[in-house]
Amino acid sequence: MENNTAKQRYKGFFITFEGPEGSGKSTQARKLAEFLTAKGREVLLTREPGGTPLAELLRKLVKNFEGEEVMHADTELLLIEAARVQHVQEKILPALQSGKVVICDRFADSTTAYQGGARGIDPDSIAFLNRLAMAQCVPDLTFLLDLPPNIGFARANERKETKGEHDRFEEEQLNFHLRVRNAFLAIAEREPSRMRLINADRDPDTIYQEIRAIADKLVR
Ligand SMILES: Nc1ncnc2c1ncn2[C@@H]1O[C@H](COP(=O)(O)OP(=O)(O)OP(=O)(O)O)[C@@H](O)[C@H]1O
Ligand SMILES: [Mg+2]
Repeated sequence: MENNTAKQRYKGFFITFEGPEGSGKSTQARKLAEFLTAKGREVLLTREPGGTPLAELLRKLVKNFEGEEVMHADTELLLIEAARVQHVQEKILPALQSGKVVICDRFADSTTAYQGGARGIDPDSIAFLNRLAMAQCVPDLTFLLDLPPNIGFARANERKETKGEHDRFEEEQLNFHLRVRNAFLAIAEREPSRMRLINADRDPDTIYQEIRAIADKLVR
């Protein structure tokens, strides 16, 4: 994600959480939101795909679609980017303009990793659509919760037994998730100033201490 000079037009601070299924994104995003709220910041905690009524409908389509018809990778990409346009324009941008801290559970890096790295769509198309959908909302800080896929699987499986919902991504094979992981790690190497690599194979509180310390220093 290239730096966008336009992003300085808003007063808020934009944090994203990225990483595979079961890496603890939602857990850590919630804890960080509580911490920053307690410090007196106004916080918008949100997620992708989704975050607005229309975007949540698109999320259901992308994650839970079933039937004879194949959902092509490009269709999946465009549905996710359409959801992102709605989310950025309706929620993220207004929140940043009003000075809030926005914490988003998955964002454009997930598209680079899943639709690019794992599904194999060419990086230029992904970068173009991400730029279009993000508009001037480029994350200031991204936590990459890194975890070997088998560990994330085990955590997600436990949850699936309680939720019982078909999920197109959780049903992918190990190789798919290895490509996701490698694509995330490649982004972290390309953009070390924005992205902080967090070892997610530790207990939740240890991970949280690390994340809180980083956010406490950087959030302005
Ligand atoms: N550090 C951790 N160690 C062990 N279990 C964890 C840890 N963090 C979260 N969990 C548990 O693993 C499961 C997945 O956590 P969480 O929902 O936060 O992950 P996620 O990254 O948001 O997953 P998804 O991408 O599927 O939404 C939950 O049951 C959670 O309680
Ligand atoms: Mg989650």
